[in-house]
Amino acid sequence: MEEELQRLVAAARTEVENIGGPAQLEEFRVRYLGRKGLLSGILRGLGALPAADKPRLGAKANEAKAAIEELYAAKNAALGPGQANFRPVADLSLPGRRPAHGRQHPISRVMAETCAIFAAMGFDIAEGPNVELDYYNFEALNIPAHHPARDMHDTFYISDSILLRTHTSPMQARIMERQEPPLRVVAPGQVYRCDSDITHTPMFHQVEGFLVDEDVSFSDLKGVLTLFVNKMFGSGVGLRFRPSFFPFTEPSAEVDIACVICGGKGCRVCKQTGWLEILGSGLIDPAVFEKVGYDPKRYSGFAFGLGVERVAMLTYGIDDIRLFYENDLRFLSQF
Ligand code: FA5
Repeated sequence: MEEELQRLVAAARTEVENIGGPAQLEEFRVRYLGRKGLLSGILRGLGALPAADKPRLGAKANEAKAAIEELYAAKNAALGPGQANFRPVADLSLPGRRPAHGRQHPISRVMAETCAIFAAMGFDIAEGPNVELDYYNFEALNIPAHHPARDMHDTFYISDSILLRTHTSPMQARIMERQEPPLRVVAPGQVYRCDSDITHTPMFHQVEGFLVDEDVSFSDLKGVLTLFVNKMFGSGVGLRFRPSFFPFTEPSAEVDIACVICGGKGCRVCKQTGWLEILGSGLIDPAVFEKVGYDPKRYSGFAFGLGVERVAMLTYGIDDIRLFYENDLRFLSQF
């Protein structure tokens, strides 16, 4: 068999030199290397050999196969471009493939911009846990167990006393209980509620802001928030404070921005009102100060919780909040 293999390689070597085109080369390949070709025919005889000879002759057969394949590949390359069997490594005239660039997610961008505006007003930045104690999420904010205000948030509970925070307001209690006034803080982060439609997602972002000092009034709150809105959206944007209720602020107000999607005419995003709510706010309730050990007769303060997705919707004219979380690159690459 060894001689047979040697003869086969020698014949292939002579034959390949006379090949002048791709059709002949293909014939050569089928005849020598094909499934029913000459090499396969010899290899079929391997099974009948004595076991002691098999490893050595098996290795010889592999060498012969490699040699014929090499002859074939060299001829294929020599026939050159334009021939059917020629497969170039690359077409050097093609434009290069651009590596895909990652971008900052629009929500991260708006959150960073929001924090930068407040940082320029002297606010510190703090972060807290997403998995929160019921105490900080509710109790410390004047929302005891069984208080009807708990219904305002559709809460994901982990156990009776642990939950996914429904807002960033727990950061008020966490910071105030370890820091004395005066303080000015913004706390950005993710929050969770069992909620989903074109203006609500189960996970969204808020930026909490609060300021505590002596003689802080509602007009300070209005001033700071108006300045923020002017910096974020430009000074021409419509803005209104609407009376509201939160157990941890008194008085309370929600802030609406004129809907940029419909120009205030009314659309499905603003539910035909011409306005989109972006934040809740108010003067911090004395009951919260008592929980953290501040003297409510001496100190007053304001707080607000801003919905980052809503700000992003208004900034970029997005009419469905869920687009932010579908990870569709056609959407994300526009920012
Ligand atoms: C609160 O979460 C209060 N903690 C805000 C607050 C802080 C009031 C400090 C007073 C003092 P509210 O549930 O309204 O309030 O949410 C605040 C903002 O988050 C809303 O104005 C809205 O912009 C946004 N928001 C609320 N729910 C969702 C949701 N499911 N998806 C996206 N954004 C939401």
